[in-house]
Amino acid sequence: MLILAAGEGTRMESTLPKVLHLVGGRPMLFYGLRLANALKPAGIGVVIGHQADLVQKEIEAMCKGWLTRPITFIRQSKPTGSGGAVLESIPFLKKFQTAIVTCGDSPLLTFETVYALANSHREQKGQVTLLTARLANPKGYGRVVRSPLGEVLKIVEETEASPKEAAITEVNSGTYAFEVAPLLGAAKELVPQGPKREIYLTTALELVRQRGGRVNACASGNPDEALGVNTRIQLAHVERVLNRRCLDRLMLSGVTVVDPTHTYVDADVEVGQDTILLPGTILKGKTSIGKGCVVGPFTTIENSSFGNNCEVRCSFVKEARILEKTSVGPYSHLRPGTVAGPRARIGNFSEIKNSRIGFGSKVPHLSYIGDCEIAEDVNIGAGTITCNYDGVEKHKTIIGAKAFVGSNVNFVAPVKIGRGAKIGAGSTITDDVPDGALAIARARQENKQR
Ligand code: UD1
Ligand code: CA
Repeated sequence: MLILAAGEGTRMESTLPKVLHLVGGRPMLFYGLRLANALKPAGIGVVIGHQADLVQKEIEAMCKGWLTRPITFIRQSKPTGSGGAVLESIPFLKKFQTAIVTCGDSPLLTFETVYALANSHREQKGQVTLLTARLANPKGYGRVVRSPLGEVLKIVEETEASPKEAAITEVNSGTYAFEVAPLLGAAKELVPQGPKREIYLTTALELVRQRGGRVNACASGNPDEALGVNTRIQLAHVERVLNRRCLDRLMLSGVTVVDPTHTYVDADVEVGQDTILLPGTILKGKTSIGKGCVVGPFTTIENSSFGNNCEVRCSFVKEARILEKTSVGPYSHLRPGTVAGPRARIGNFSEIKNSRIGFGSKVPHLSYIGDCEIAEDVNIGAGTITCNYDGVEKHKTIIGAKAFVGSNVNFVAPVKIGRGAKIGAGSTITDDVPDGALAIARARQENKQR
């Protein structure tokens, strides 16, 4: 299998290579590589060229841990077009009898469709089988020109199409199954064409046919799969389709998505049965939400997990682990290293970082809790903060079970509060407090006569 990813992506108007732009939280190219891996081909080749070092490094990073076969990187020296990319891949392609060639900018293509293409190619015994789709708006795609009998004659790129050809709505998806020998024979005859003087891979199909070969087509059941990303408008479109696929998968497994047009879920997100996702919910990366939760509105959760029956409203959560029956928000900010619950409560305008909030403990209002361990059944009063940073180092605050902390307390870390201790409101605690003790550390009120 050969993935073409060397293009300049000029129409993206970006300093980032097109194939590295994110769709569903992953670089676009990830989807092609995942597909290739699932097809278990004899080899996977990726043609890179534009910003090749960066693209290769990113591919290696995104494939770590799951790709079951090595990638052969093929460096295209100049961006001479999709045909040029295939020409430079000859040493790789020559090792195989049949090859699937696809583009790195088609993240909606599914395993089932490419598998069907490979089968159709085998059964029809042609030299090329091309994956096509009918698009209501075929603008920008190569059009499939057929004879009156329906045989595929050629693909005409839009830049070269006559008005009659431009009106054809059957388009080339950019994915093909080729018999390698006739492909390479034809590729060697390709010459630059079009306004940018590119070597078009699509012209090879016409040449294969002229040499007596057969070109077949396999239509994609779902036209979305043929969509390629050339501009950011297409990027947004593909993002919407991919997001909707992820949401459909969740809805069919028992998740309520109140407004799918305003809910965004990355491909690897897991959500349990009877959880409700309210509008404005964004679930990113490796996030899992348990059963019976309510998430949103206006909540972003990234690389985090929630147990069953949690609530999280109007909040930001990143790299946190929240255990069952815990309630978060509205307006909480949970930062990396937060572990809370079960049955904990983190409320309005509280920020938590690198801290453990134990069973049944509450940080309900206006707190900053950083580098802190709070055991079970602790109540933290409104406005309480940990002073965890002395300007050089971070220090820990440890609060024992059933401690009661009044409002507006400052814990100057490192400091340890014993089990069942009580801290008077407004205290600035600089020393450890023993189990069961009452600590008050504030100036006594004076009422002066005026
Ligand atoms: C291409 C097809 C078009 C098809 C469409 C589907 C050609 C000539 N046209 O057009 O028929 O409808 O895809 O999306 O192939 N690339 C290289 N090296 C290069 C140039 C491009 O590797 O020098 C790669 C790109 O990274 C990309 C792929 O080839 O993944 C296709 O190139 P692109 O410029 O996107 O072609 P389209 O104009 O979309
Ligand atoms: Ca394209």
